[in-house]
Amino acid sequence: MTTNPPLLGRKALITGASAGIGSATAQALDASGASTVLLARRELRLQELSASLENPAECIGLDVRDASAVSAALAGQAPDILVLNAGMARGTSAAYQNSEDEVDDMVDTNVKGYLNVLRAVLPAMKERGSGDVVLLGSVAGRQVYPGGGVYCMTKYAVRALYESLRVDCFGSGLRFTTIDPGMVETDFSLIRFKGDEARAKAVYAGTNPLYPADVADAIHYAVTRPANVNIGEMVLWSSDQASTTMCTRR
Ligand SMILES: NC(=O)c1ccc[n+]([C@@H]2O[C@H](COP(=O)([O-])OP(=O)(O)OC[C@H]3O[C@@H](n4cnc5c(N)ncnc54)[C@H](OP(=O)(O)O)[C@@H]3O)[C@@H](O)[C@H]2O)c1
Repeated sequence: MTTNPPLLGRKALITGASAGIGSATAQALDASGASTVLLARRELRLQELSASLENPAECIGLDVRDASAVSAALAGQAPDILVLNAGMARGTSAAYQNSEDEVDDMVDTNVKGYLNVLRAVLPAMKERGSGDVVLLGSVAGRQVYPGGGVYCMTKYAVRALYESLRVDCFGSGLRFTTIDPGMVETDFSLIRFKGDEARAKAVYAGTNPLYPADVADAIHYAVTRPANVNIGEMVLWSSDQASTTMCTRR
């Protein structure tokens, strides 16, 4: 007897799908039968990813910070699974020393970007009365660390947003999940350090971190539970990491 893949017939919209965790999540959900809507600024990378998927994907080249562009591009979208993932960090200054641009980048992407996408698609998901919203938080939304102040602020905000959505949409049939990973080896550090490869590599040197596929696997697990089960919060550490400041190096 053959069984249908668990996400057959479901549509997943993934923000930040051009790299890292978002790209791996698109691959994992696609492999389980979902059709995907891939969103990020680098549309070419989305198209390359789309060409490697099993099911037809829609690519949307978009900056989540641009509220009116988000609302225009996502009009009519009512995904069964929404993964709010597009995010980033800038610099390692104390919060009061981050430049205005760094603060804007982090707050506008990690907090306002999530809200822009939610404003555009959540009403239709709510009206349908079923679906999953997965927010990429971080252990940085649970423990601050030196040099992470503003980034941590944005991830604490994501956690508050997750809790707010649960109460705002109480009784709607929607499920909400926050996935909070520790260190994942992606382009995250490269972007944080403005393209300084040596500095970015040093973050992962000598340790065995999480990889994008590990986080995608957790997301896949959450969205494939039976309808009566809502995985609320998942914290993922690599086996080498004990806290935001303690990581084994060999
Ligand atoms: N890596 C870690 O250690 C770690 C740990 C915990 C949580 N996280 C969280 O996981 C999420 C994904 O990070 P990652 O590690 O996968 O980083 P990544 O490899 O740098 O990927 C970030 C993704 O976000 C997209 N993005 C960034 N700004 C955007 C914007 N303004 N509009 C649209 N898309 C935008 C990027 O695409 P474009 O550049 O093409 O737009 C890219 O697809 C983030 O929310 C991050 O905070 C990461």
